[in-house]
Amino acid sequence: MKKEKGSMTTQSYPLIQKAKILGEMVYSPMAFAKMLGISRYELIEKEAKGTLPPAKRDSHHQRYYKPGDIVKYRNYLGLLSPIPSIRKQLFLNFKGGTGKSTVSASYGFRLAQMGVRTLLIDLDPQGHLTQCLGLNNQQFTKTLFNALIEKEEIGKVIVKTDLPTLDIIPSNLNLSPVELSLFSMNSREFRLRRVLSSVEKNYELIVMDASPSIGLLNLNAILASNDLIIPVLADFLSYHGLKILFETLSTIEEDFSFVFENIFIFLNRYNESHRICKRSKKALETHYEKYLLNTVIRQDTKIAEATSQGTPIFLFAQSSKGAVDIQSLIDEILGLKGVNHVG
Ligand SMILES: Nc1ncnc2c1ncn2[C@@H]1O[C@H](COP(=O)(O)OP(=O)(O)O)[C@@H](O)[C@H]1O
Ligand SMILES: [Mg+2]
Repeated sequence: MKKEKGSMTTQSYPLIQKAKILGEMVYSPMAFAKMLGISRYELIEKEAKGTLPPAKRDSHHQRYYKPGDIVKYRNYLGLLSPIPSIRKQLFLNFKGGTGKSTVSASYGFRLAQMGVRTLLIDLDPQGHLTQCLGLNNQQFTKTLFNALIEKEEIGKVIVKTDLPTLDIIPSNLNLSPVELSLFSMNSREFRLRRVLSSVEKNYELIVMDASPSIGLLNLNAILASNDLIIPVLADFLSYHGLKILFETLSTIEEDFSFVFENIFIFLNRYNESHRICKRSKKALETHYEKYLLNTVIRQDTKIAEATSQGTPIFLFAQSSKGAVDIQSLIDEILGLKGVNHVG
């Protein structure tokens, strides 16, 4: 293990790597229309009228669309971008196992599928976000460590995927010395904010997945974000974790005069038939009403299976409860319902 640390700087990769996460993905007219926020009927009608180019056809003469088509079609239709100005969103909870990595991976992946230029950043040396996208995190020699500590140009740390709108900064154990290294640096709390400022013009959305810890990297991530997204489980420990998180946030507010533009809390792995779930929901509604989203992500074995196979739920089981709930989470957080209609 120790020997490998040194190899971080000796191996080199091309400027921008491309990672395969999807293979040959195609969309049906129904799936494609859904991502555009129009009906299948509208899509087909506009093709017939010539407002849109004719769809590609497979050997059975069935229509299909490719991931790269979505931005073109959005432009043809004059559709508003789902995100009017760049948003930097952080999934954080000091408690582990609440769904930060799983949900943030599918959240960012889905928005990229919907045509939003997205950068996903894995802030956890365990590399779970990277793995949730099916990427073998050990293959990457560069992580955020190189950009934050070694001052390497951030472009060299970003990996493109074969979904044209999705880039990722992967992570693995090479990121773990970051806490110690940041400690002795100047303006150590604002390094991520600075580093991101040079690439954020390339994106509409930056989604970060934090590790469950209170440390300098997470402080950097907080100070670099607009929105905080907190998944919680319906149990007592999660509830306690929230208290610690909000206490930490008020210290940060005092020390750095920093406040999030938005804070969103949502229940994950929810099971209505469990009394404890209902009780926790009530408690959250009472004490965190201001931040609690209506969307609840239900317990769904498909989510766990998708995670274990390193596949975003939208590729693994598109009509599962999990996929439906994460889509509602997206719509609620970004206020998308009704936004995407032809103007
Ligand atoms: N809604 C859900 N239903 C079922 N399993 C889930 C759900 N959300 C997350 N999981 C599972 O819970 C485990 C922990 O999730 P993870 O995203 O790694 O949490 P965190 O990043 O907060 O530590 C994973 O195995 C994941 O598949
Ligand atoms: Mg995680």
